[in-house]
Amino acid sequence: MADARYEVPRLVELYDSLYANDSALAAYVAMVAEFGSREVLDIGCGTGTFACLLAERGYSVTGLEPALASLEIARRKPYADRVQWVHGTVDVLGDLQADLATLTGNTVQYFLTDTEWSAALAVIRRSLRPNGRLVFETRNPDRHPWQTWDRAHTYATKAIPGIGTVATWHEITHVSGDLITYRSSYEFESDGAVLTSDSTLRFRDRRTVEESLKDAGFTVAEVREAPDRPGRELVFIAIRPADHDRARLRPSRGLACPGGAGGTAVAGCHIYTGQAPLAQPSPGSSGRSRPREANAACSTSRVFPGLVTVTRARR
Ligand SMILES: C[S@@+](CC[C@H](N)C(=O)[O-])C[C@H]1O[C@@H](n2cnc3c(N)ncnc32)[C@H](O)[C@@H]1O
Repeated sequence: MADARYEVPRLVELYDSLYANDSALAAYVAMVAEFGSREVLDIGCGTGTFACLLAERGYSVTGLEPALASLEIARRKPYADRVQWVHGTVDVLGDLQADLATLTGNTVQYFLTDTEWSAALAVIRRSLRPNGRLVFETRNPDRHPWQTWDRAHTYATKAIPGIGTVATWHEITHVSGDLITYRSSYEFESDGAVLTSDSTLRFRDRRTVEESLKDAGFTVAEVREAPDRPGRELVFIAIRPADHDRARLRPSRGLACPGGAGGTAVAGCHIYTGQAPLAQPSPGSSGRSRPREANAACSTSRVFPGLVTVTRARR
């Protein structure tokens, strides 16, 4: 279950108004062009803004997100019909052979344990082509940003079209080493409702992140400052070397049906995908395959128009 802010529809409706960061996403768009990428995998795509920006520019994009309510917002955006949307965590990825994987918005901080993070890196590495890049940012723990995550420093109000004025604030509820747990509150002026969302984030320092990347078989090409938040966030650019893990490369491409041959099984996991993009590669794409719907362990059904769910039968 994703955090309430990504999963509860009334809170997800606020996400773009409260948290959209156009300059950060512009920096990512610029990097896609800088690296000459064509097929991009956006992990933790949330409400899909970045994926849609790339689709608008003609890139082939897969947006992966575990919170279905966020994907519901994403699929209403312009160019969303050109994105392959996947509902799930990184575990459901197969060998997509993307040439760039991104995690924008400090998504990596949601991978709390070393085991979880290294498993995610292994799956991401397998979903990249040789020489493919992984790019993500994380808040710089040297700045101790959570020290000002209290009501006094964070209380703000915003008038949101169609919703009304919403007051928001954060409070730290628990600190354990580099794990910071905080509560975000959202007060709706329209009916006085107060909804909360609890999150735990891992604040890894630069050296820890670099070592984890190397351990996972990546080469750390560069660590940049986030152009709009110098000193506050670190942007990591890692490369999957051409010769790494060659023996494990499989000829097939696509998303792993949980329990299928292409990926790690996740019991009860669902994959939601746009129907057309899987069968009809977009311009510039070298092709994609469908999730392995034919696998006996999986069944498919329509969830809502334009989307298909692939569900693994429990064993
Ligand atoms: C801070 S939001 C960033 C959303 C989006 N990337 C952006 O820049 O606006 C973090 C996102 O990561 C997703 N997430 C959390 N854990 C994840 C996991 N294990 N695999 C993939 N996505 C995850 C959340 O559901 C959420 O949408």
